[in-house]
Amino acid sequence: MEGLDVVACERCPALVDSRSRIVNGVGPADADLVFVGEAPGATEDERGEPFVGRSGDVLEAALRDVGLARSDVRITNCVRCRPPENRDPHVDELDSCRGYLDAEIERIDPELLVTLGKVPSEQLLGRSVAVTKEAAEVHDARVGGQSRRVLVSVHPAATLYDASQRETFEVAIETAAELAGVGTAADGGSGGQSRLGDY
Ligand code: URA
Repeated sequence: MEGLDVVACERCPALVDSRSRIVNGVGPADADLVFVGEAPGATEDERGEPFVGRSGDVLEAALRDVGLARSDVRITNCVRCRPPENRDPHVDELDSCRGYLDAEIERIDPELLVTLGKVPSEQLLGRSVAVTKEAAEVHDARVGGQSRRVLVSVHPAATLYDASQRETFEVAIETAAELAGVGTAADGGSGGQSRLGDY
């Protein structure tokens, strides 16, 4: 998206070596929901778009279940370059990329941020997070100098390794849609209005 895409960045030498390209966020500039993942994987690195591999399929299916298309929401990552061998991004890499994420969130100004997994949850909440225990909980966080509502979710990939995480993930997505007042989940009494004031 114009003004938000990082077109050249060489801040993290290991990631510059491992990436094929920078993977920027996708989705509407006025999205009510912004999903924040960890970092691109192999498929994302190849295609230049976040969550287009198996994790993306799981995310899209959960969105569909609540009446949302992928194109209705913004999807981005804490780190925009694929780490070598899919390792977790290092703290200095998360720090280097943080300004890009903050600027993206400030520009989109969503109703709600949804953190997909431990790394983005801890990055945005600034503390350690037990994602399974805190899934679907909403917390306030300072993001780019502003207070934001953040809903914690397990990572969609967790559902592929552990079937018991599936419901946890689906409930988080349903809660997110309901609170942001989008999709069919929002029809349950809120009339398409954000319910975040209740929290
Ligand atoms: N996992 C992530 O955290 N981000 C992606 O873009 C893909 C998989």
